[in-house]
Amino acid sequence: MATSLQIQSKLRSDAVLELSLAEVEVPAPGPDDVLVRVEAAPINPSDLGLLFGPADMSTAEDGGTAERPTLTAQVPPGGMKAAAARVDQALPAGNEGAGVVVEAGASETAQALLGRTVAIFGGPTYAQLRCLPAAFCLALPEGTTPAEGASCFVNPLTALGMVETMKLEGHTALVHTAAASNLGQMLNKLCQADGVPLVNVVRKPEQVELLRGLGAKHVCNSSEPGFKDDLTDALAETGATLAFDATGGGRLASDILGCMERAASRTAEGFSRYGSTVHKQVYIYGGLDQSPTQLVRNYGMAWGIGGWLLPPFLQRIGPEKGQALRERVAREIKTIFASHYTREVSLAEALSLDAVRLYGRQATGEKFLVRPNPGA
Ligand SMILES: NC(=O)c1ccc[n+]([C@@H]2O[C@H](COP(=O)([O-])OP(=O)(O)OC[C@H]3O[C@@H](n4cnc5c(N)ncnc54)[C@H](OP(=O)(O)O)[C@@H]3O)[C@@H](O)[C@H]2O)c1
Repeated sequence: MATSLQIQSKLRSDAVLELSLAEVEVPAPGPDDVLVRVEAAPINPSDLGLLFGPADMSTAEDGGTAERPTLTAQVPPGGMKAAAARVDQALPAGNEGAGVVVEAGASETAQALLGRTVAIFGGPTYAQLRCLPAAFCLALPEGTTPAEGASCFVNPLTALGMVETMKLEGHTALVHTAAASNLGQMLNKLCQADGVPLVNVVRKPEQVELLRGLGAKHVCNSSEPGFKDDLTDALAETGATLAFDATGGGRLASDILGCMERAASRTAEGFSRYGSTVHKQVYIYGGLDQSPTQLVRNYGMAWGIGGWLLPPFLQRIGPEKGQALRERVAREIKTIFASHYTREVSLAEALSLDAVRLYGRQATGEKFLVRPNPGA
């Protein structure tokens, strides 16, 4: 049986988080399976949730050897309870990636992928080898490298999911926060290609410049004193009544609803103490700001706040529509859905203190790409 190194995250019962590189056995592919040599896998915010768990990464210390490094960090009081379900389990990490099919089961679907470069959905991808059903692979167009195809699912399908949700729920324009993110840049290109008005919310002037450079029309900086007026103007112009908020904490979601109400009242006929009748919706789809969500209910009664996650969305639209979205991503992976990485690291380097501190910041333009088989 083949073996593979993989990154594992264990929350120990002594309130210590331990990251390590473990050697595991990889099963031979069954008739409908393929064995993929993983060549590239991004580190996304959702991966950090599993990798770091509730640990305070400012306490991280390195250990182990150069080939088999470890990293440990303390879990603050209260953190263990929330994560009780994963205590003392070594969880493999990495939600998506791309590589080459090196072995295939006997079925026609599996054999058709032999030798192809494929994107794979579902972890673990911070691993040298991954055996999985052929159906979980997306064959990339000829000439696409694993690095180009490594981020085919999480961010591209979420960007597409936002536009599809907008249509399904009867809205005609979108608001997006932390909008200079990798996903936000894709969403800008997607909305421009599909003619969907988009209001971007960022927090730094350089992020305004970045998005304007991509052709964005509406970019509002939440750190500016005139933010709410700028946002209200952009909402009135676009008619956006649906927002996707990646920050989740603080007052941003509430402020967006408040500005939507102000924009709606500009065209309302007469006054109602219950506010406008226009339904205003915010979906919190990320947790970049871990502080509590604060609602200041100054936006009438026609509003909603909920969570949004990719897998339930894919279930909602069904397998046929989901496949059509995946195929669009494959066709446009070098344009609309292209991702850029600041640094490439091996499995061992991904566990170095220096790397963890950098990718743990989740800062604009600082996405890392893991190369489990460097030089392959
Ligand atoms: N729900 C889902 O199914 C789903 C699927 C995919 C992605 N996501 C979410 O989408 C978001 C973006 O992912 P990504 O891979 O595109 O991220 P990314 O490229 O790593 O970018 C993260 C962005 O967030 C900003 N940011 C970080 N902390 C912030 C805070 N406290 N307040 C405001 N902005 C902050 C950063 O700006 P600075 O440089 O200013 O720090 C940066 O622009 C993440 O929250 C991720 O979890 C959710």
